[in-house]
Amino acid sequence: MAVATAAVPNDLESFWMPFTANRQFKAKPRLLVGAKDMHYTTHDGRQVLDGSAGLWCVNAGHCRQPIVDAIQKQAAEMDFAPTFQMGHPKAFEFAARLAHLAPGDLNHVFFANSGSEAVDTALKIAIAYHRARGEGARTRLIGRERGYHGVGFGGISVGGIVSNRKVFGPLLAGVDHLPHTHSLKDMAFSKGQPAWGAHLADELERIVALHDASTIAAVIVEPVAGSTGVLIPPQGYLQKLRTICDKHGILLIFDEVICGFGRTGSAFGAETFGVLPDMMTTAKGLTNAAVPAAAVFTRKHVHEAFMSGPEHMIELFHGYTYSAHALACAAGIATLDLYRDEGIFENARALSPYWEDAVHSLKGVKNIIDIRNIGIMAGIELSARADGPGKRGYDVFVKAYENGLMCRLTGDTLALSPPLILNKGHIDEIFDILKKTIESVD
Ligand SMILES: Cc1ncc(COP(=O)(O)O)c(C=O)c1O
Repeated sequence: MAVATAAVPNDLESFWMPFTANRQFKAKPRLLVGAKDMHYTTHDGRQVLDGSAGLWCVNAGHCRQPIVDAIQKQAAEMDFAPTFQMGHPKAFEFAARLAHLAPGDLNHVFFANSGSEAVDTALKIAIAYHRARGEGARTRLIGRERGYHGVGFGGISVGGIVSNRKVFGPLLAGVDHLPHTHSLKDMAFSKGQPAWGAHLADELERIVALHDASTIAAVIVEPVAGSTGVLIPPQGYLQKLRTICDKHGILLIFDEVICGFGRTGSAFGAETFGVLPDMMTTAKGLTNAAVPAAAVFTRKHVHEAFMSGPEHMIELFHGYTYSAHALACAAGIATLDLYRDEGIFENARALSPYWEDAVHSLKGVKNIIDIRNIGIMAGIELSARADGPGKRGYDVFVKAYENGLMCRLTGDTLALSPPLILNKGHIDEIFDILKKTIESVD
C-alpha cells in the first residue's frame, strides 16, 4: 500500500505542468520559492524582477501583509461555507464592494474560481437571458480570432488561438468569430490605441447578416487581447461593437480577466475605453491572485430578466462549490482595500506615459518588429528566426530570466505587465534588461 511521506525524492516527474514544454522545462527547471512586492526569489537564491505580475494577476505586488493577514484570519475563523441556499457575510460584502467599483449598472456579481469558469458562466447567462425573455433561439456566440478566454469548452470555442482548439474536437456548435485586429502593416509601433482598424468591427454586421440577429446571444472580446500578445483595440473599435450589438439586441461581454483591476490605468478596461458592456468577466487581480477566484459582473437588465417566476424557484441553475469561497472573499476585500488605500490604479495611470516612452525607446533594437502598449502592459514582437517561430522569443525569455527579469511569452511576442505598485526605477530596470537581452540573442 502506498504511504504518504515527505521523504519521496522530488524528481519533478509527477507534476504534469500546464501550458509548459514539460520535458524541456524539467531538463532545466526554473523554480520560484519566494516572493515579495516586485520580486521573486529563485531556488538558487536570486532576486528576479516580476515583469509579468505572475500571470498578469498580482497587481498589488506579492505577499502583501494585509492580504496575508486577512486570509490567515479567515482560515482560522471559518474555512468554508456553502453559498447554495446558504451564505456568509463576506460574500455579500465583497460583491457589494465590487458592484460599487464597477462602471455603470454592472452591479450584480456571480462568483467562480478562475477566468475560464467566469467565461463559461457569462456565456451560459447570455443564452439563458435571451430564453428568459422569450428569445430562446438566440444561442449563437461570437468570439474573435486570436481571442483568449481560458480553457473550458466554452472559452476555447469562442477563443481564437489555434493551438488551444485544434486537438479538442468539434467544440461548441453555433460559434462564429470576428477577425482579429492586428496588422503590422497598418499599425506597427503605434503608441496606445492604433488609429487604424475600427472598420474591423463592421465585420459583426456581416456575421449578423449571415446568421440573423435572432440567433445570436452574445459577442465576447477582451478589451485588450492579452494572452495572444497584447493587441490594443483600435480607436473607435469597441464603440462600434457596442453600437452594432445594441442595434441587434446582442449582449456584449468584455473579458476583463487581464484588463480588470487597474491594468489599463482604470479599474476596468470598460472605463479606460469608455464602453459599457452587458457583462464583464474578471479573475486574477480580483484577489491579487492570493486565492483563486473569479467574478462575472452583469448589468441590471441582465440580472432582472432572471428575477421573475415563483420566488421559491432557483433562478439560475449554475454555480460552483467554491463560488464566493470564504478565503477568496477575505483576500478579495483586503485586495480592494489595498487598491483604494494605496491608489494603485492611480499609480498605474500616472506612470503609463513613462511606461509608454520606456517601451518605445526599444524601437530600432535588432529583431524588434512591433511595440504595443496601453496602461501598464506592453507587447514587444520579435521577428521569427529561420529555425522556427517562437524560438527567438523563447531564447530571449530564458535569458531575460537569467538576467533578472521574468516576462511572459507568446510565440515571438514578449508581454510585460508588472505589478501596479511599480515605480520609475522598476520601469527603467525592466527595459534595460530587455534591451540588453534582446541585443544579445541571435
Ligand atoms: C482574457 C482571459 N480570459 C480568461 C482567462 C482564463 O483564466 P484562468 O486561467 O484563470 O482560467 C485568461 C487567462 O489568462 C484571460 O487572459
